[in-house]
Amino acid sequence: MSTDESIKERVQNGQKVEPSDDLPQEYREAAQRMIQFHANSEIVGTLPEKQWIKKAPSLQRKRAISAKVQDEAGHAQVLYRTAETLGLKTRAEMLDDLVEGRSKYATVFNYPTETWADAGYIAMFIDGAAMFRQGSLTESSYAPYARGLRKICYEESFHVKHGEDIVRSLATGSKKEQDMMQEAVDRWYQPTMQFFGPRDDMSDHTDDLMEWGLKVKSNDELRQQYIDEFYVPKLEKYGLEVPDEKMEYDEESERWNFSELDWDHFLDVSRGNGPMNDVRLADRRKALEDNDWVRRAAGVA
Ligand SMILES: [Fe+2]
Ligand SMILES: [Fe+2]
Repeated sequence: MSTDESIKERVQNGQKVEPSDDLPQEYREAAQRMIQFHANSEIVGTLPEKQWIKKAPSLQRKRAISAKVQDEAGHAQVLYRTAETLGLKTRAEMLDDLVEGRSKYATVFNYPTETWADAGYIAMFIDGAAMFRQGSLTESSYAPYARGLRKICYEESFHVKHGEDIVRSLATGSKKEQDMMQEAVDRWYQPTMQFFGPRDDMSDHTDDLMEWGLKVKSNDELRQQYIDEFYVPKLEKYGLEVPDEKMEYDEESERWNFSELDWDHFLDVSRGNGPMNDVRLADRRKALEDNDWVRRAAGVA
């Protein structure tokens, strides 16, 4: 049996592998793509919320959201370092890939945060979605990634609590606040559902990632689980309407059925044509330039 086959057999039997194992190039490349995408999403994910640090309605909210944004930057750091253990790219190369548009990040961060309700929505529902996705990835076959995610998930659970507190206060507040919260839910519905990635039959990489045990649940499985266990129950709890008129509970399958999402739009945003893609990359580029002296001083440029 070749080494490649024995690694495949090991990961398919639920065992994890370490960077020191003789990992096939195909495995390293698939893991690199997935972890780099995740690291990019954490660092770009700081941008839509960052502007609400200044505009948060109280000192307590300001402290909570700035701690949350800082955590996300920390997640990116852990994940870039984790990706480096694969031996294919340095952190500096990955940061360059991002600003040069050579690597991707979650499309959900290419939408504007128009109101304070959006900041609450993102922390509760996007971080909630991230918890479903990342929770499953703590079973990923790449051991350093699975270990890093345990710490990250612990922090994400605080982000969800912080977001839920904002959502609760708006959803139980004045009519104006309730409307603002519902409008955020309506605006973010599609991007939230698409956070789990393309439909399984559209995805080029899902099979590879699952074959190598890097991913343990498919995009569609995670999307459905999130809707059934988190999204719908939480909206109902706070008296918010589900934005999809066709979403209904199917007694037989015990699942919520929903309308087809706009996948052409998703692909368009993924190719760089979303409302905020250019702004996000320009902000990242500026941060990279502004902080260049820090990296040089620390000897990590
Ligand atoms: Fe995060
Ligand atoms: Fe988070």
